Amino acid sequence: QGFDMNIVPFSSGCGVELSNQQLADLTDADLVELRTIFDEHGLVVVRDQQFEPEQHLQFARRFGDIVLNKFFKPVDGYPDIAEVRKEKSQKTNIGGGWHTDHSYDDVPAMGSILVARKLPETGGDTHFANLSAAYQGLSKGLQTTLESLRAVHSNTHLYGENGYYKTTDLADQLGGMDRVGDAVHPVVIVHPDSGRKVLYVNPGHTIRFEGWSREESLPLLEYLYAHVDQPQYTCQFDWKPGSVVLWDNRSTWHYAQNDYQGQSRLMHRITLAGAALSGV
Ligand code: SIN
Repeated sequence: QGFDMNIVPFSSGCGVELSNQQLADLTDADLVELRTIFDEHGLVVVRDQQFEPEQHLQFARRFGDIVLNKFFKPVDGYPDIAEVRKEKSQKTNIGGGWHTDHSYDDVPAMGSILVARKLPETGGDTHFANLSAAYQGLSKGLQTTLESLRAVHSNTHLYGENGYYKTTDLADQLGGMDRVGDAVHPVVIVHPDSGRKVLYVNPGHTIRFEGWSREESLPLLEYLYAHVDQPQYTCQFDWKPGSVVLWDNRSTWHYAQNDYQGQSRLMHRITLAGAALSGV
């Protein structure tokens, strides 16, 4: 592909793996190349990293501008790093359903950088979906219809006073109930960096099409969600100590598999600020 960096496809459907490189040691020129790879593929997985919180923070600052998650607890001493934590006594996990980070913001996050800190012996993989490829897999007729629509994204049903998380054993761990809100985005965006068309709705945060009721919206949203959740557009990452994953929140979905009851898992996430999204 003309890159000097050592990258290979991670799966046929999504992502690339970068090997034999320490993210913390990349030169400025490497970073420019990595950013091109990231814009192109939306998902970059890297293993065997020496990546303490300080390296995580420094790398994130070089890769973009950091934006804070409104609901997750920060890591002690690192207000820019959010904890994605599940204790062995807890049944619910954070991000356990398909979503993309911060689509409920007017200017949604560009990307996220997730680092494994404490892993269960088995399970706890993260799944990813490629929304650019999924859009290409739709018929021209449906693509054209979707290009004329906008959708409402929200976090109230998750983090609000009567939201999902309040009914779970994560309630005490999540804050920001008063910071919930909605945003409206085109259903098909032109990716701000790659210029590709991307399907920009997700099961976690999209609640309806603009001007449509929830009931009217659901059948089409559910059709799209089932279309994306197919093997040719999705992949699964099995975390090991030292694994780091970078994903583009405009062109991918992800979810954390909750299949390690009775064990704990701790991840550190830095979220990167994006640009306002435009339609076709
Ligand atoms: C997230 O949704 O950002 C967390 C993903 C994970 O814990 O694997």
